Amino acid sequence: MKVIATIAELRAALRIERLNGKTIGLVPTMGYLHIGHMTLVRHSRAASDITVVSIFVNPTQFGPNEDLAAYPRDMAGDLAKLESEGVDYVFTPDVSEVYRPGANTIVENPVLSRVLIGKIRPGHFRGVTTVVTKLFNIVQPDQAFFGEKDYQQLTIIRQMVADLDVPTEITGVATVREADGLACSSRNALLTPSDRKAAVILAKSLAKAEEMVAQGLRSVSAIRNAVRAVLQTEKRGEIESVDVRDARTLDPLSGKFRQPVVILLTVRFGKVRLIDQRVIG
Ligand code: PAJ
Repeated sequence: MKVIATIAELRAALRIERLNGKTIGLVPTMGYLHIGHMTLVRHSRAASDITVVSIFVNPTQFGPNEDLAAYPRDMAGDLAKLESEGVDYVFTPDVSEVYRPGANTIVENPVLSRVLIGKIRPGHFRGVTTVVTKLFNIVQPDQAFFGEKDYQQLTIIRQMVADLDVPTEITGVATVREADGLACSSRNALLTPSDRKAAVILAKSLAKAEEMVAQGLRSVSAIRNAVRAVLQTEKRGEIESVDVRDARTLDPLSGKFRQPVVILLTVRFGKVRLIDQRVIG
């Protein structure tokens, strides 16, 4: 496994791989890797000859009131995990390598970046699409792997690739969960032990929605209310949003739905914002 911190060195190494006819898979991450990330890595290893993992805590996707400095980091632990998984290249640039002085071009989906989480975190998805574009241009991957856990992010990246004719195939990977159902997240490490236990309520509320749909119910408001009612039984969590949207476009829905829908949750425990989702139908 080669750990590379500069764009020039990574490009030079990947040019040789490409000349040798190797296909390249990219797994972009912000580090503090857990089994969810490692599952993306396994998908890339299975689908591509060469797997590149980037570890970069991207400052432009954090808001001014969000604690970028508090984002958990463990470079040594991450590299050990990636090495044992058989990753070929790890890209670990500094902020100054990625954002050079004077850079001001951005990539943004002005519609999808302003709804749902984009409304709660203005500028967040602009930071994501800009850095992912840069990573795509640096690595030029044949395939890139993203988790369904960050469903809006995955949807926005799929649309970006389609809209801008990016020659990278996007694969979405199902959410990996802890034994009690909580979606694996680097942020879980920031929860107090009591909040960690309470956080299982997100998965429970999604199970309730799934159960209602399995029983034939198709009412957007009834499902949203039932999910909220389950979440409200856990007083430690502060509900930020519960949305039922078209699973493909993220368009809002009302009345009865026929198409696949996605239920999107944002719940805060203290300062820690947890998200979860489930596609139903
Ligand atoms: P990060 O939060 O580190 O997540 C990296 C990738 O891992 C994302 O595609 C995310 O959806 C996926 N992932 C996280 N938890 C998962 C889980 N429990 N199951 C399956 N996949 C999971 O998302 C980002 O970083 C950044 O926004 C990034 C795309 C790297 C751009 O900076």
